[in-house]
Amino acid sequence: MLSAEQLADWERDGFLVLPGAVEPRACDRLRAHVVSRLAEADPAANSSLTVFDTTEQGHAQDEYFLTSGDVVRWFLEEGAVADGRLTRPLELAVNKLGHAMHDLDPEFDRFSRTPMLAGLAADVGLRDPRLLQSMYIFKQPGIGGEVSCHCDHTFLWTEPQSVIGFWFAIEDATVENGCLWVAPGRHREPVRTRFRREGSGTTMDLLDPAPWPTDDLVPVEADKGTLIVLHGTLPHWSAPNTSDKSRHAYTLHLIDGDADYPDDNWLRRGPDMPLRGF
Ligand code: FE2
Repeated sequence: MLSAEQLADWERDGFLVLPGAVEPRACDRLRAHVVSRLAEADPAANSSLTVFDTTEQGHAQDEYFLTSGDVVRWFLEEGAVADGRLTRPLELAVNKLGHAMHDLDPEFDRFSRTPMLAGLAADVGLRDPRLLQSMYIFKQPGIGGEVSCHCDHTFLWTEPQSVIGFWFAIEDATVENGCLWVAPGRHREPVRTRFRREGSGTTMDLLDPAPWPTDDLVPVEADKGTLIVLHGTLPHWSAPNTSDKSRHAYTLHLIDGDADYPDDNWLRRGPDMPLRGF
């Protein structure tokens, strides 16, 4: 799938931007499908709906989050809830849908398992690609929350490191509406933290006290249909969306079946739902 030049960019930078990787109408179809599922996200019908806030990690202790690895659940924007009630229409209050749509929802399965993506996974070094986690992220206008600077290896740990992120722009992503920012080349630096289960909750191990540098983050604006490929140790970040435009994105995280996936990863699956490839 990738040219020698793209592979060299990948090695050097730790990310790749592939405009037009997905047909815009496939993005529109996925967006419409997600909107059609919104009825099930009504907190009145589902009292365990949880606010997702990456800057606090307060959600992490929440059973709702910790048991969402092999199901499909809705999470709400922190800014959309006051006194336990939604402060805006549901379609403008959801933060994300996660984390196993690629295995449980035929529409997501179709979007996630294509020959193009299988070829890409092989090109970036996955010998036995397994689709571990899917998220549909809304980044709502006005309240879409910041995603603090992190690398995906922190949250989806394998030994050796193998996680690769596929980030699809379902709508145009700009600096204005909270596009991804990345730190080119810093995937070669040691990972700073590891998030894992401890007891009935979670903990964040500090492996390297040096803070993530924020001065060399660069924005990666992406038109609808663009795929951004992220190395598992590349720091990335996105700002709050203070604009009046949403920034829908779909992310898929893959790991190598050859690597060890320790039991204390937060994301777990039941024995009846083993990880699958393409
Ligand atoms: Fe990430």
